[in-house]
Amino acid sequence: MRKKVTIVGSGNVGATAAHWIASKELADVVLIDIIEGVPQGKGLDLLEAMPIEKRDSHIMGTNDYRDTAHSDIVVITAGIPRKPGMSRDDLLNTNHGIMRTVVGEVIKHSPKCIIIVVSNPLDAMAQAAFKLCGFPRERVIGMAGVLDSARFRAFIAEELKVSVENVTAFVLGGHGDTMVPLPRYSTVAGIPITELIEKSKLDALVQRTRDGGAEIVKYLKTGSAYYAPSAAATEMVEAILKDKKKILPCAAYLQGEYGISGLFVGVPCKLGAKGIEQIIEITLTPEEKVGLDKSAAAVKELCGVIGV
Ligand code: NAI
Ligand code: 2OP
Repeated sequence: MRKKVTIVGSGNVGATAAHWIASKELADVVLIDIIEGVPQGKGLDLLEAMPIEKRDSHIMGTNDYRDTAHSDIVVITAGIPRKPGMSRDDLLNTNHGIMRTVVGEVIKHSPKCIIIVVSNPLDAMAQAAFKLCGFPRERVIGMAGVLDSARFRAFIAEELKVSVENVTAFVLGGHGDTMVPLPRYSTVAGIPITELIEKSKLDALVQRTRDGGAEIVKYLKTGSAYYAPSAAATEMVEAILKDKKKILPCAAYLQGEYGISGLFVGVPCKLGAKGIEQIIEITLTPEEKVGLDKSAAAVKELCGVIGV
């Protein structure tokens, strides 16, 4: 039997994630949204693309959670996106309200699923989903680090004119202005980028990574990025469905790791069939640790506002 992935929210990120997942034939996909017709229309349109793509993934759209029953993974993208001038944190209360209704329905119909949260502000929404669903921490994962690291990788590859395949990068911390790109752990074909890019250039790439979401919002004006975010969520879905044991930066509920407890923060995680199978603790310099703690404090403040 094919695996089943439900995507809650069939807007830009949700529908594009459905596209990536189906075109890689990872699973059957159910798109669900509160807007009538949109998930059905997008789902049918994608289904009709499958003969051309030579893929047998089945895609459907719905407004009824019964169609989502027994999903292996549920990706939550429901919510409002950023508009120019808005920070991710401005979305806090609206998206928390949405999370409340969505998570209740998700767990009723797919009690054994793994939840991947995409809605912003990411770390606080992951924390809200975790508290609402009562699942073990292995099965609630926030998507941000894969996206932020991909942005960093793209900028490094462009700067050095090398293949993106040669570039690995790590961005830890919360998905906000305080995120912590780690040049020391970022490499080109195994060579640390600190040996390849002079400090002032590297600092500029780090800052561009931090501002990566806002850079796209400024261009789009009516919403935020969705191609790279949905590709990032799809990489996490693939790692889980194929039990790849892949190390990816994800928002995870920390219980003492990195000296942080009771909070979702972006850290390196091993993703496999059980969800987060290991949280990997890497050594940080005092400066990097200060950055991570500052980022965690920003997440904690947001969680405090919505009481999660
Ligand atoms: P969008 O506006 O295109 O789509 C959101 C969809 O959610 C809409 O179709 C809307 O009808 C639906 N929705 C709202 N309430 C719902 C509910 N109760 N149940 C089901 N569906 C509901 O927005 P977009 O661009 O797809 O972004 C979605 C979210 O993802 C935003 O919060 C955005 O900030 C966040 N995001 C997070 C990223 C990350 O790195 N974690 C990256 C990009 C976006
Ligand atoms: C991004 O980083 C808005 O969080 C979204 O593009």
